[in-house]
Amino acid sequence: MDKIIIHGGGKLKGEVVISGAKNSALPILFATLLTDEPSVIKNVPCLADIDTTVEFLNFIGKKTVKKGNIVKTYASEKYKHIAPYDLVRKMRASVLIMGPLLARLNKVDVSLPGGCTIGARPIDIHLDAFKRLGAEISVEGGYVKTLSENGLKGAVIDLKFPSVGATENILLSAVLAKGRTTIINAAKEPEIEDLANVLNKMGANIVGAGTSKIFIDGVESLHGFIHEVIPDRIEAATYMIAAAITKGDIVLRNVVPNHLKAVSDKLKKSGLSIKENTTSIRAQWIKNLKAQNIKTEVYPGFPTDVQAQFMALMCLLKGHSKIEETIFENRFMHVAELQRFGANITVDCKIANIIGVEKLSGAPVMVSDLRAGSALVLAGLVAEGETVVSRIYHLDRGYEMLEKKLKKLGADIQRRHES
Ligand code: UD1
Repeated sequence: MDKIIIHGGGKLKGEVVISGAKNSALPILFATLLTDEPSVIKNVPCLADIDTTVEFLNFIGKKTVKKGNIVKTYASEKYKHIAPYDLVRKMRASVLIMGPLLARLNKVDVSLPGGCTIGARPIDIHLDAFKRLGAEISVEGGYVKTLSENGLKGAVIDLKFPSVGATENILLSAVLAKGRTTIINAAKEPEIEDLANVLNKMGANIVGAGTSKIFIDGVESLHGFIHEVIPDRIEAATYMIAAAITKGDIVLRNVVPNHLKAVSDKLKKSGLSIKENTTSIRAQWIKNLKAQNIKTEVYPGFPTDVQAQFMALMCLLKGHSKIEETIFENRFMHVAELQRFGANITVDCKIANIIGVEKLSGAPVMVSDLRAGSALVLAGLVAEGETVVSRIYHLDRGYEMLEKKLKKLGADIQRRHES
């Protein structure tokens, strides 16, 4: 298993080009199942989760080829309706196969996605929504079996929580249902808007994506599309925090500053200079940063996917910072690892209290999940001495060319291949 070795201490300076958003590319790839025509998706990041999805689509019967940052899908063969454990277990987003296959085949059997280190992550909201659209659901032999013999029918679906994945699965199925579907309390994340834009390009009739009420008028069929995925706001936020933690000066290219408002506001409040242009942001350290409190919330609130990285920064901010995690029940796996750098953090249920320390010192650490991993890399960039980060396959799921981009900004970082 590969490891990342970092010698911390240098200020990161220069430009970094932000990749396409993983969380947008994934549902868009699944959307290609809704048409028999070819499609082209640009600005797709080179990540393990994308490779898994391409493999998944090919298995189901949609010929899909990825070259660099472009994915092309071709005319479909007959689709399989079974998504086996070996494909689903690799990635929770695999549940997004359900919506399109239910819409196209009226049935889909998906191996139940397990929990993960950041929480149980059930799919009850997805399944309740499919039931509202007329599907029958049963669980047999570890598979969720979903059947809608007479096709899907539009319905009013009031989500008990604005789940990102459930909102996407509803969009991916209701576009081909009979009549109108209304999602109440829909997720408002930019990735939802990106998916809705793709579906509308395909001929769907969706209004309101990006707000908490979405209307979908079902259509008979959908056609191919060409689309460029939006920039990854979580990757961008990670590089902004890299500028803050290393007292550096980083210009991020290919970003949508508005998608990053909650993170930019907190960084500005703590004293980081943030200058925004139409598609770029300059994050520059000019003075010591102040302790902050954050509470993770659904978009446009502070993203849970940036909580771990912000905690790494808080470890060095003078005074008492506090984080309240409201989205996932177990998303403080990085705390024990940050403590190995000498951080002063205590956790009480959903709240982490962080008392800033003078310095962090390099340590051997282990990644538990994707964003926890980036927090450890950020800590390693500023820690004195050597940091060895293991289990970095989690990082390869979500950060395109991480060491290359950090190296270009001046970091002393390398990947060591180990068998
Ligand atoms: C997506 C993102 C993930 C991000 C999360 C929250 C992708 C591929 N992943 O994940 O990076 O951290 O949004 O912004 O886009 N829940 C239920 N029942 C359900 C569905 C969700 O209880 O049926 C709970 C989850 O356990 C979790 C919370 O709702 O506690 C948020 O989940 P959700 O918004 O669905 O996140 P994902 O789509 O899994």
